[in-house]
Amino acid sequence: MNPNYLIHDEIYAQVKNAGLAGWGGNERMARESEFIDRVFSINDVPTAGKLLELGCGEGHFSRRFAQLGYEVTGVDISATAIQWAKEKSLSMKIPGQFYVADLTQPPLEFLESYDVIIDGNCLHCIIGDDRQTFLHLVYTLLASDGVFFVSSLCAKDDQNHYISKAGFAYRHIPSVNHLLAELSSVGFDVLSVNVYEREQYNHITVHLKNKHLAPKSLSQVSSLAFYHLIAIPVLAFSLGMFLCCNRHFYLQ
Ligand SMILES: C[S@@+](CC[C@H](N)C(=O)[O-])C[C@H]1O[C@@H](n2cnc3c(N)ncnc32)[C@H](O)[C@@H]1O
Repeated sequence: MNPNYLIHDEIYAQVKNAGLAGWGGNERMARESEFIDRVFSINDVPTAGKLLELGCGEGHFSRRFAQLGYEVTGVDISATAIQWAKEKSLSMKIPGQFYVADLTQPPLEFLESYDVIIDGNCLHCIIGDDRQTFLHLVYTLLASDGVFFVSSLCAKDDQNHYISKAGFAYRHIPSVNHLLAELSSVGFDVLSVNVYEREQYNHITVHLKNKHLAPKSLSQVSSLAFYHLIAIPVLAFSLGMFLCCNRHFYLQ
């Protein structure tokens, strides 16, 4: 199914022209603290450092994170939303870097390594195979002890659901099992999962870390230590003894 990511720019233009505060209208925007509380619902989230928001829109979550002391970068495909984010950031005197980019089209050279990466309800806008590209990008951008927070719609059943307009998909709503399998296949370790019951589709939040710092690397370190500190010296000693004994034997 072919995606239409730019549909979001049309929606932002409508939202702005209607005088609304942001995506989903003023009532949804007023529930911002619910999202922030969910991010900090586990202790593993770094409390300072660089934070990237994916699909930041007009930047309301990003501004909140900046006020909490993070060095914030927001990315969105909608030029209207990013222009709006820059205007709000300037007028409210809240720092933040905002970029227009399609997160399914890496490499994005202006991005670096981040301690916290927030999916600002963007992953469910990413369709089909592009999801792997998007998630691989996140994996490469996440600092080794960083946390990736996913906030997404998910299906109530075990199917993938698509929402489209004029034959182009703009929502991909996976089942919980499918979502967790795709996150794990990219290399993330799941730290926590919460599913919130909603009417048509549920909502899910997932905290993740990159697998490469998991206890696995500890076992790799111990096996390296075993080879260097025990196995190699024992082998060298045995070989030396063998050569020594044989030399003695031949000399007799
Ligand atoms: C559901 S809105 C959420 C906006 C905001 N984070 C919020 O929660 O209020 C999803 C956002 O993802 C952005 N988006 C969708 N597809 C994208 C893509 N391929 N690359 C970057 N941003 C994308 C949209 O423009 C939109 O701002």
